[in-house]
Amino acid sequence: MDTALVIKNGRIFSGLVLFLYVLGHLINHSFGIVSIELLDKSRIIFNYIWRNPIGTILLYSSFLIHILINLISIFQMKTLKLPFRKWVQILLGIIIPWFLIIHIVFTGYAHHFEGIEDTYSSVIVGSWVAPPDIWGIKGGYYYIAMLLVVWVHGIIGIHYLCSHRSWYKRNRASINSFFMIIPTLSLLGFFLAGKEALTISNFNKDYLVQELTKSGYLVKSLDQSEMWQPAINLQIFADKLELNYLIALVIILLIVSANMYFVRINKKIKIFFPGGRTIPVSRGYSVLDASREGNIPHASSCGGKGRCTTCRVKILSELTNIPKPNEVEKQVIDRLGFESNIRLACQLRPLSDIKVLPLVPSKIMENKSSYIMRSFGFENNLQGKETEIVIMFIDLRGFTKLSEQKLPYDVIHILNEYFRISGEAIEKNYGRVDKYIGDGVMAIFDSNNDNKLNCKNALIAAKQISKDMKKFNELSKDEFVEELKFGLGIHIGNSIVGLIGHGQSISETAVGDTVNTASRLEQLTKELKCELIISERVANLASLDKTQFNINKVEIRGRNQKLDILTLSRGFQLAI
Ligand code: FES
Repeated sequence: MDTALVIKNGRIFSGLVLFLYVLGHLINHSFGIVSIELLDKSRIIFNYIWRNPIGTILLYSSFLIHILINLISIFQMKTLKLPFRKWVQILLGIIIPWFLIIHIVFTGYAHHFEGIEDTYSSVIVGSWVAPPDIWGIKGGYYYIAMLLVVWVHGIIGIHYLCSHRSWYKRNRASINSFFMIIPTLSLLGFFLAGKEALTISNFNKDYLVQELTKSGYLVKSLDQSEMWQPAINLQIFADKLELNYLIALVIILLIVSANMYFVRINKKIKIFFPGGRTIPVSRGYSVLDASREGNIPHASSCGGKGRCTTCRVKILSELTNIPKPNEVEKQVIDRLGFESNIRLACQLRPLSDIKVLPLVPSKIMENKSSYIMRSFGFENNLQGKETEIVIMFIDLRGFTKLSEQKLPYDVIHILNEYFRISGEAIEKNYGRVDKYIGDGVMAIFDSNNDNKLNCKNALIAAKQISKDMKKFNELSKDEFVEELKFGLGIHIGNSIVGLIGHGQSISETAVGDTVNTASRLEQLTKELKCELIISERVANLASLDKTQFNINKVEIRGRNQKLDILTLSRGFQLAI
């Protein structure tokens, strides 16, 4: 089986299991806002899921798999020049197991192997009331730090897993609120439960001993050291595990450093980038590693996990010596129908010299202050982001002939009227004119998170343009021999949106297959003798009645499959 695919799926599966566990755990904490008693009662459901044999095996195996995969990715590191977010992920992946050891020993391990009943009452009282030097868990603040670190790691993982999905983009605001609300309620519950425990222990000096004895962390004895023995044993065991973990970590880091050194002195392959940049690397480097090593800006939204395709490159050398795609890459290639010379830079590990051309625009402008934000993809337009948007193309018909017959003044007047009509309709319906190309207009409709609305807006704008152009023709019928005609195409799909240009002429625009297809639909209006052509998906998203259209299938250059299109002879007839 393909290792890359096993790692990818293992990471996703184990990460999701752990995220669900942590989510349930944090929700459980929030009951502490009411009382410690309710905390313990609500935990019954949580325990029912995770403390049965299947839940326990699933949880601990996911935990181990996740650690193992993190170690593998550390082993695979070829360069220290990684994006900030990658460092955050790696460091959190190292810190979290160390943080969790003591918690796991005093709860899961204590329960399964020492017969201790780790109730919320005992853990809360242990964390907030017991002196930190005799109670193994190092106080409530330790828990808070642990909770935040684990949650941040989890939401980074979920963000990179889902950030390319349209449902995630559409619901980003609600998802962000969810990411904030859960830890806030959880911390509040944990704090208030701690406050309750401190209040009780002020009145009842034996509260701590009573709760811990009830759970089994203490034994009944008049001798103090004997009484605390079960907790002390757990502490000693946790200390040992922590020490072993640190030793293992040091060994791993030494091996990784040695590996990196060996790789550095053994650079036998050259990777050629545009602009004459050549990066020597050794075997095992991915093309993305080489870009990072050479400080060459290279888009990689998912951090090199083969999910986003923004790192894709065109191979400009012979394809015969290029290694075949691994399973992760193959899945992407099959899904998106890449040509054989288009490959994912994060997955392709060349065995000989290779010349590549990165295809997605990367950092056009450097801005140190926003490095961290960009690193997490919050400022994608600087690097170029791939997103699903609605594109409209409009073009006048027979304009060349008209401009030959008319005075330059008239030509400019007609053009400006047509641009006014289209511009007003586009802007009124929350679109934006991206550019004027001669007598053509390209517009983008992406103001709404919901693409159903963007499609609807584009269609309303199209209808409006058609209506206003009809009016314009009626008013000026004495001036022109022929009616001023136009064609309009609308398509939706993934596009790369980013700042493109140079110097003062940098502006945000969209490029890619969707733009080409929308333009092609507009051109087809000539051949099919109609005013409006939309792709079927636009009609579906806008919930249009398709019986009003003629339905057709057309070939579009660059696409593997024919495209279903809907045509309408006049745009103003459109029923929305
Ligand atoms: S970086 Fe996302 S697929 Fe390569």
